[in-house]
Amino acid sequence: MPFTIAIDGPAASGKGTIARALARQFGFAHLDTGLLYRAVGAKRGDPVAAARSLAPEDLARDDLRSAEAGQAASRVAAIPEVRAALVEFQRRFARSEPGAVLDGRDIGTVICPGAELKLYVTASDEIRARRRALELGADEARILAELRERDARDAARDVAPMRPAADALLFDTSEMSIEEAVARAIACAREAGA
Ligand code: CDP
Ligand code: CDP
Repeated sequence: MPFTIAIDGPAASGKGTIARALARQFGFAHLDTGLLYRAVGAKRGDPVAAARSLAPEDLARDDLRSAEAGQAASRVAAIPEVRAALVEFQRRFARSEPGAVLDGRDIGTVICPGAELKLYVTASDEIRARRRALELGADEARILAELRERDARDAARDVAPMRPAADALLFDTSEMSIEEAVARAIACAREAGA
């Protein structure tokens, strides 16, 4: 039986950093599910058709990390048919041997409710904005407004809203260095049997 780790949380909380480090540590596959929604949001035309025909080359576009791509992703992510089109691929990925780490918004609640370990990663709005602004070389105030708008939309939508699963461990990285956050996540995963 593969071991599945579900990592959810708001924008720029450190999900991806922790997910990549866990995958490396345990030799698991890693899927950044936000990239799927970013790729759908970046495609022209009907987002539902875009989600149904998503291909590996769509995920390789180099403009997907921008704040604009994040906004477009969060708009298409509220469309039920878009989410439905992406479920099977994510669930199949989650069954990768010997294990998989998926990070997103609804992994612990919808995609992998039976995951062996669920983390819900947070950090204060200001700290998340500072980290993302540094990463993108962008203005902090503009990024703060963008993250807040996106988090509000992601938490308020009817289908698969962003929220911690009842059995998720809450992981606030506001005061943690990357090294500390990663070390604690590895300890949680060992405890869960990884
Ligand atoms: O995947 P998510 O959008 O949640 O966040 P990320 O891309 O892992 O992290 C956002 C930024 O914060 C990256 O530049 C990380 O290097 C940085 N970060 C940090 O400074 N301290 C942490 N404890 C975690 C991430
Ligand atoms: O890296 P960051 O946390 O800023 O964003 P992301 O993980 O790349 O996700 C971009 C957007 O995709 C989010 O704001 C959500 O609207 C959407 N998303 C989602 O709805 N469900 C997921 N499992 C992952 C992302």
